[in-house]
Amino acid sequence: MPSPNTRALGFLNLIYSAEMIETQAAKTATPPAFAIADIAGTVGIGLRAPHYQAMLAQQPALGFLEVHSENFFGDGGQPLKYLRAFRAIYPMSLHGVGLSIGSTDKLNLNHLQKLKRLADAIEPALISEHLCWVGVNGRFVNDLLPLPYTAESLRHVISHVTQVQDFLGRRISVENVSSYLEFVDSDIPEWAFIQEVSDRAGCGILLDVNNIYVNAMNHGFDAKNYVDAIKPGSVTEIHLAGFQDTGEILIDTHGDRISSEVWALYAYTLARLGRVPTLIEWDSDLPALDVLLDEAKRAGAIMQQVPASLHPTQRRTHAA
Ligand SMILES: [Fe+2]
Repeated sequence: MPSPNTRALGFLNLIYSAEMIETQAAKTATPPAFAIADIAGTVGIGLRAPHYQAMLAQQPALGFLEVHSENFFGDGGQPLKYLRAFRAIYPMSLHGVGLSIGSTDKLNLNHLQKLKRLADAIEPALISEHLCWVGVNGRFVNDLLPLPYTAESLRHVISHVTQVQDFLGRRISVENVSSYLEFVDSDIPEWAFIQEVSDRAGCGILLDVNNIYVNAMNHGFDAKNYVDAIKPGSVTEIHLAGFQDTGEILIDTHGDRISSEVWALYAYTLARLGRVPTLIEWDSDLPALDVLLDEAKRAGAIMQQVPASLHPTQRRTHAA
């Protein structure tokens, strides 16, 4: 049971945080628009609610923050207040998990309207979605399901991505997902499929290096071949995360430190693609903020090894 002093300190923290939120939110009346060039060559972390207080207190030097778009689809309240407070300090990346771009269902107009409203309010540097489907016939699952990689699904996804970009009036990026099975009908390599989506829809690629490694191990291909097939100018962001090894397959849990194999693949990827903005993703078994910052520091050190000439935009950080 907490002591009275502990409770008092907690109360003071609450007051402090509320004032800080109000102050930061006031600064966002007209948030400056951030372009992707503003986060070039930087490292960010996924912003999760348990870290809000520590982040506001420390304001660590990070290039950007990324949030799950759907968590801020409400009409107001504390989530948006916090988001505006952080947006006053950092460029933001909106990362969606529920648009279901790959589904044969029509795109959900209500979902798109909420995403557009959020983007217009936050003015993110990046908006991304997953190259997957999360439901069909109006029924949804809590997972990012892989697509069959065929000419037919390619045309379908390109049409959906184009519709999303037209509706938002913004370019989006699509992320490669981890998978544990493959469709027998797939006749296009995953890396060729996502590059083709980018080329023909005009969207960016959010390249999740951990997902490449997980899929390479699960499906038996060379992860470096995947990276080699991706055009440098297509990639707008890189994701790094931890996986779980069950002994039979690798599962993309986002619940551990980044593995040494993925760090090595990240270095290989940057050497090919240049200083692409990189995000540390951590969603389950969330550790203390310092652990995420430590991973971000390691990513930044690897990025510094890449010749700046591979990316013309100078590195910037925001906050302290
Ligand atoms: Fe990711």
